[in-house]
Amino acid sequence: MRDLALHVTRAVDDADAAALAAIDAASFPHPTLDLAGELARSFARLWLAREGADDGPIVGFLLAWLVADEVHVLTVATAPDHRRRGVARALLDHLLVEARARRTTLLLLELRESNAAARALYEGFGFTAFAVRKGYYAEEGEDATEMRLALDAETGEIVPDPSAATER
Ligand SMILES: CC(C)(COP(=O)(O)OP(=O)(O)OC[C@H]1O[C@@H](n2cnc3c(N)ncnc32)[C@H](O)[C@@H]1OP(=O)(O)O)[C@@H](O)C(=O)NCCC(=O)NCCS
Repeated sequence: MRDLALHVTRAVDDADAAALAAIDAASFPHPTLDLAGELARSFARLWLAREGADDGPIVGFLLAWLVADEVHVLTVATAPDHRRRGVARALLDHLLVEARARRTTLLLLELRESNAAARALYEGFGFTAFAVRKGYYAEEGEDATEMRLALDAETGEIVPDPSAATER
């Protein structure tokens, strides 16, 4: 995507918070973003994607926890009008740069079983499904697919995942 500015932030003003809440509400059936709580966690990272420049409108965000040598991707969301333009891919690219710099060995996430768009996005980065959590999304009783990406701490190369998806 052209004209996209990405950065990590710990300080979000009211306008940014409103923009993030709007994207969250438009992206998830049961939005749960606790922005203030996340920004207070030393191990949380919030990436913002802005259109045009560092002060442009927020078009997407990624929230992750970076703990020891693992990364848990909590949320990736792009504003509906800006989808399929590479925003989420750019956010994940940035996350992986930081993950590799920190010698991360494992990235984890879960998503709704029905979320084909997100699954395609993550598979494009080499994530593989390794487990299913039955009824994890309690409101609808929808299953969660758990995905992971293993990295070699020294080289940053993807470590192939030999396991197949299993239910538990
Ligand atoms: C999933 C989501 C984050 C993708 O964001 P995006 O900015 O549109 O994604 P990108 O444009 O960077 O797409 C990158 C790749 O992901 C895949 N992808 C993205 N959206 C897709 C869709 N609707 N259908 C199929 N594949 C899709 C494609 O492989 C795409 O590459 P391509 O456009 O070259 O084919 C976005 O649809 C969204 O916000 N959904 C609601 C929130 C959500 O489900 N988040 C993920 C769970 S936490």
